Order: sequence, then C-alpha cells, then structure tokens
Amino acid sequence: MSARDQLSTPTIRLSDYRAPAWRVERVELEFELGIDVTEVASRLLLRRDRAQDEPLRLDGEGLELLSIALDGQPLPVDRYRQTEAELEVDGARDGSVLETRVRLRPAQNTALEGLYLSGSRDTGFLLTQCEAEGFRHITFFHDRPDVLAQYTVTLRADRSRFPVLLAGGNPDGAGELADGRHWARFVDPHPKPSYLFAIVAGRLERIARDYRTADGRAVKLVIWSEAHVIDRCEYAMDALERSMRWDEQAYGRNYDLDVFHVVATHDFNMGAMENKGLNVFNAKYLLADPDSTTDDEYRAVEAVVAHEYFHNWSGNRVTCRDWFQLSLKEGLTVFREQQFSADMNSPALKRIEDVALLRRAQFPEDAGPLAHPVRPSQYSEINNFYTATVYEKGSELVRMLAGKLGPDGFRRGMDLYFAHNDGQAATIEDFLGALGEANGIDLSPYLAWYAQAGTPRLRASGRYDATRREYALTLTQHTPPTPGQAEKRALPVPVKLALFARDGHMLPLHVDGHPRSGDTELVVVADKAEQQIVFREVDAEPVPSLLRGFSAPVILEGMDAAADLALLLRHDADGFNRWQAGQQLATCAYETLRDHGGGGAIDAWCGALAGLFAEDGIDPALLAELMTPPGEVELAEREREADPERIHATRQQLQQRLAEQLGGEAILSRYQALARETSAGLDATSQAQRRLKRRLLELLALLDTPTAQLLAAQQYEQAPGMTDRLAALAVLVRSDAPQAAGALAHFRQRYADNPLALDKWFSVQTQRTGEPALAIVQTLERDAAFTLKNPNRVNSLYGAWARNNPSGFHRTDGAGYRLLAERLAELDALNPQIAARLATVLNGWRRLEPVRRARAREAIAALAEREGLSRNLAEIVRSMLH
Ligand code: ARG
Ligand code: ZN
Repeated sequence: MSARDQLSTPTIRLSDYRAPAWRVERVELEFELGIDVTEVASRLLLRRDRAQDEPLRLDGEGLELLSIALDGQPLPVDRYRQTEAELEVDGARDGSVLETRVRLRPAQNTALEGLYLSGSRDTGFLLTQCEAEGFRHITFFHDRPDVLAQYTVTLRADRSRFPVLLAGGNPDGAGELADGRHWARFVDPHPKPSYLFAIVAGRLERIARDYRTADGRAVKLVIWSEAHVIDRCEYAMDALERSMRWDEQAYGRNYDLDVFHVVATHDFNMGAMENKGLNVFNAKYLLADPDSTTDDEYRAVEAVVAHEYFHNWSGNRVTCRDWFQLSLKEGLTVFREQQFSADMNSPALKRIEDVALLRRAQFPEDAGPLAHPVRPSQYSEINNFYTATVYEKGSELVRMLAGKLGPDGFRRGMDLYFAHNDGQAATIEDFLGALGEANGIDLSPYLAWYAQAGTPRLRASGRYDATRREYALTLTQHTPPTPGQAEKRALPVPVKLALFARDGHMLPLHVDGHPRSGDTELVVVADKAEQQIVFREVDAEPVPSLLRGFSAPVILEGMDAAADLALLLRHDADGFNRWQAGQQLATCAYETLRDHGGGGAIDAWCGALAGLFAEDGIDPALLAELMTPPGEVELAEREREADPERIHATRQQLQQRLAEQLGGEAILSRYQALARETSAGLDATSQAQRRLKRRLLELLALLDTPTAQLLAAQQYEQAPGMTDRLAALAVLVRSDAPQAAGALAHFRQRYADNPLALDKWFSVQTQRTGEPALAIVQTLERDAAFTLKNPNRVNSLYGAWARNNPSGFHRTDGAGYRLLAERLAELDALNPQIAARLATVLNGWRRLEPVRRARAREAIAALAEREGLSRNLAEIVRSMLH
C-alpha cells in the first residue's frame, strides 16, 4: 500500500469551490523512460490571480523529488515544503517558471493510475491514466480540471525496448540519440486540463487510415495494439470513422488535430479514456473478431469508440470546472453515443438496452446507501463517482432536455453551448443556460434533477366518464428519502403519452390548453405533487400508454391492469413502448406467481407473447427481448426483504410457463429454422436471429433439458463465431449439462492465448445458480490464469458472480460475502479503484431478507474495520454501513 492511500480523508464540497489562485499557462515535460525508473522533468509557466493571496501549492503524490528550481535558480530546502500530497513553494510570482525533476517507478504501480506498465516487464509497454487525479502521480501540478495549459511533451527512451513513443497533440519532431536511444516531441495547440494528458511507449503495431474532416483537415487515424492482435483493430477503425462523420453531421463538430491515436491495453481500470489526441482503451472495447467477440460486444466496441471520440468536443474542447460537474461531460457524451448507436443500429433495441441498464444498475444505486445526485454535492474520493447515476441518469436528463427543445432547438442550444464555452471549464448551469438561451426558454427548473438524488415514483390512475366522454388521468409524484436528503421536492417529469382504443389503434388527443389538438402522442410535464389531465371527446374507456420512449427516469406505478398491458404489448407500433408494457406485465405475472401460484397476469403475458411468436414480421431481436422478463436484480428491487434464491426460482417458473405456452415443438422447430437460416455475418438480421436463437434455447432448457443440452452441445461445436459458442456454453453450464465439462476444457484450450476470451471462460462458470457457485469461484481463483492484478480478470470472476448471479452469491450462510470481503481487502492493497468499484455489488444489502442481511452486514463491517484501507474503499464501505 502506497503512502497516498493512507492519507486522511477530507470531504470535498461543491459549495467550497474557488477559482484557482494560480494557473499554469504552459507546461513542458521531458520523460526519460524506463520500466523500473522513469524521470520526469517539468517546466511550468505560472500565472497568479492577483486578487488571491495564496502561496504556490501544487498537487503531487508519491513523487521522488530530484531537483527544483524557480526562475532559473535552484531552490534551497527552506524555500519549499513537500508533504504527502503537495509541494509548497515560496517566492513564486506571476510569470515565474518552476522547474522540477522527479523519479517514478512504473513497474511497481499496481493501481494503474499515473504512469504504469501494461503487460510483462519484457514485452509490455508504458502508458498513463490521469482522469481524474492521476497526473499528480507523474509530476507536480495544479491537478484540477479548471487549470488549462498548453503542453509540449518530449519522450526519450531506448529505441529497441520502446520503438513507439506517443503523446497527445501533434507530432513535432523525432530523432536519434546516442547509445541506441531516440526521442519524439508532441505539441498540443489546444489548452487542456491535466486529466487529458497521456503518453504511451513501447513495442506496438499499428493500422492507419487517412481521414478528411468536413471542414477540410487531413487527419491520420492510427490504432495501436500488441502486434499479434493488430488484425482485430479493423472494426474499431471503421467505428471511429463512422463516429467522426456522425459528429460532423449531427452536431457540426470536426476533429481538430492532425493525428488521432488510439491504443489498446489489457490493463485498464475503466472502459476507455478520451485523452486529447491519444485515446486509451481497455482492449475489451477495442479488439474485435468474430471468433472471439460476441454481437453484444461488437456493439459495445462501436459505442465506446464513439463515446471517447465524442468527448473531443463534449469534455475536451468544453471541459468541467470541477469534478462535481462530471456529468456535464459524461451524461452528455453518453447521450450523444446513444443517439449515434440508435442511428447505426436499431433505435428500439438501443433504447431497450439502455433503459434495462438504467433499471439494473442505476435504480438500485439511487435506492441504496450510495445514492447521490447526478451532480454530487460532496465526495472524499472522486473516482468513486464514475457511477451509473453520473453517466446513465445524467444521459437521461440530457434526453429530457433534448426532448423538450425538439431536434432543431436542441441543436441550436448545443451550438450555442459549444460556442460560448469552447476552450473553457464549464458547469451544469452553463449547459442549461446555453440550451435555454438559444431557445428563449428558462430551463432552470430542470436543475433540481441534477441536485436531487433518488428515483421519483410516478403514480398514475385514470377515470373514464362515459356521459361526458372524458378520461381523467391523475399523476402523483413522490421521491423516497436518500442519505443526506430527507426532504424531496417535485421535479418536472415529462410524460409522453398516448391513448389506445380497445381495438389497438391510437386515439387523437384533445386536451384543453394543448395546442396540437388531434395528435396521437403528447408530452405532459408533471411538475407538482399531484395533477390531473382531462382528455375530451373520448368515446370509450381508453388504454393509456405512459412514459413512452421512457420520457423520464422515474418508476411508474399503477396502471397495471393485465388486459391493458397485454393490449399494448400486442398492438403498440413502437418496439420500445411494447417492451415497456411487456416488462410491466411480466412483473405483474411474476408477482402473481410468487404470491398466488397462478393468475390472470401470467396468462395475459404468456398469451400475448404466444400471439407475437406466431406472427411473421416481428424483428427476431425485439421478440427475444419481449420474451425476457425483468432480471433478478430488478425484481429484487421491488422487495423489502429479498430472498435471491426464491426470486430466481420464481422467475424460472415464470419463464417455464412461457415455454409451455409456446410449446416445446414450436420452440424447437423455430430454433432449428433459425439455425439453418442464420449466416455468420454481423449484419442486423443475422445478429437478431442469433439473439432469438439463444432465447429459444434457454426457454427449451426449462422445458426439455436433455434436448436443449444436446442442441447446445451441437451449437457449441458448430458455432461459426463467439456469439453462438458462448450462448451454447452458457446453457450447458447453467443447466449443469453432462457436456459442460468437455466444452469448457475445449474453450479453455482454444483461447489460452486470448485474455478477453478467457475472461468469458471465467465469467460463464460463475453463472451456475445456487449452492454450487461458491465452490466454482473458489476453484477458479486458484486457476493459473487468475490474477488479482488484472481488472478485467477480477471483474470476470468476482464481478460476474456477485453482480449477475444473485442466487449463487447471496448464500444464507454468508460465505459469499466473506469471500468477497476477503478479496476486496487483498485487492485494495493493489488497486484501490477496482476494489472500491467491486465493493458496490454489496450496496443492496439492506433490502435482503433478515438472515442474509445480517451476514452481509457482518462482512461489510469487518471490512470497514480493517486498517489501512484506501480512501476509495473506505468511502464505499463506510457509506454502505450508514
Ligand atoms: N472519462 C472516461 C470515460 O470515457 C472514464 C475514465 C474515468 N477514470 C477513472 N479512473 N475514474 O468515461
Ligand atoms: Zn466518458
């Protein structure tokens, strides 16, 4: 454990923000690179704010200071003070130049923050990760996003060990040095905060492509990876080009440097990083080939490539004033990526996936001890706030604003936002201000969404008055308290709605005061604790369809008459709304089954799906999603005393009912038809067919296990690509098939040299439900290929187990919690960021049934009491206990 992790843990507050007293205008860095020892010389041109009278203090942690000089004069020891986290220097003035030289030890950096080694000492390469506060592990600096500087970076290293030298910005010369060494220089003309700094050095292979921006700039696009996987970068290159074109067309944003580098690493704490001109990717989101990448992963690669590229404007050109504003760049960039992916693929499926993710990951966060606003008001470790709330809920807020302004208005607003804030560090207020100003609207009521944590519950009820031909819809809203926020206020909730007639067609809407009378869809903004909308000229009791397109991130309650939902599931023309009604109906069916063992909602759900299953023309991917009930995590959210085993069993029963309704014969013949027809291609049709095929195989396994296992074994052997192979393997493992061991052994051997595929080998095995899961995890952690040092591997084992297999993880004896807590402590000593993120899998512990709850509490409390926990993990476990 390094010294920095044991620092005292002050609380940082948004309300304490102050503009920097000092700034760095220009920075020149020179790296003498080595695996064991790297030296960094820095030259800072300083500016001081005359209104503030503060000594020069720079952030710096774990830096071995070799020399220091101010304005050309070496500084005597009594003129500066170095603490664990800072360097304080006397005598600096506006315009002063501070020079320091520090020593780093990259090979010892297991936290993967700052400068570190990816891969082995012999063949690996050096790289940096600076967001959020990694730059202070490289040199002394004002490591805060509102200090924007111009960077000149020179790298020097042994040519044979480090043939490739990269930094952000444009190349500005390179050459030979004595003793087999060489150098390269990069200048970034765009001022940037330190978190966007990056370098990479080592043996890497490249693919390159020429690109011309809409405004005429010739750009060299280069993707770098280890030599033996460079062929797997082509798809990412295509995705990059598509992203660049799309941002030109959809937002008028052009790329602004002469080169754009992207680098893949297997050792990375997050998905990817948007460093200016030098993006760094977790290999998981960059490498792709049909043999080892699933369809879902292909779409994830496209999405993450786009996300990081879009940051060049939403994040880099306009950055954040402070880390509380993180959603300003992340929520917005997730939203832009979602729009892009919807354009590239199926909009309905994209929306389904995103809303499902929100419900699975963000709603539980918002309902538990770690709940925080999209713009948090305080933190002790900022890395703990790269959350589903900041990203996914943040994106939903942008979507609400975009929906309110309409496509043209939103574009106008975005243009103004970029124009006003280009080259600056902005706030959420700047964003809402620009969107509003461009449209003559006051958006300030929406600021409350950024400040208030918790998911609002929107309860709807309707009354039809036949004599007056009126339908009255009442909406009430309520947000449960969250830690530190007991009182909640009503938020503006845009509810997109429609009314359906019993025959399944949409009714024209007539509402007083609503201008476009006769439309079949309209948006009502519910901004009071209770309000009523009256629809006129309604001839018979209608079926309301609410929150269409998931127009606001709320939990909708009421309006769950099974017949009504079944009608929407059958007849709504919009795939997403159909899915939404289907999920609501499936939830009712699930609860009926749990509480009464049977009932109308089950028949309604199964019957509607059987009808759709028999129909031609429905997109097979959509059908697969419609036939999938909400997941176990989502179902658990609705319970006060959740028993994960019982939830699993009931959900299985519900799916079995569906399988029975569809009929074994019909499932089998549809599966076989798909198996015959599906090509190996990545086109939308083939992907959709594979998705349905997997769902059918899963359903069949609930009905006729031996047949399904036989088919799965066959599918495994004949699979043309990873999607089919992994789907088959999952069915074999989950159903404990006699063929599972052979397939797993084969998979293991076949992908011995492919870490990303091997991750899947680990995670698929953690999905055995119930009792056996723990022993499997214990066997896997003793596997030679397992290591706590690689984040992807850690997540593929403990993350997959604890997050995606509730019945296997939440044991009554608490052994799951104890094992996890033990590993979290070990992991924390290596990589605090990964430990803290993994710990959040326990955040729902309070809603478990009493026995598990007590066991979970014990494990978390014991972990909290350990000595020397990192600031990261300490903040998470302590908040969970409060
Ligand atoms: N900005 C990155 C993104 O694209 C995430 C990097 C965050 N890194 C971290 N250590 N918290 O979303
Ligand atoms: Zn991002």
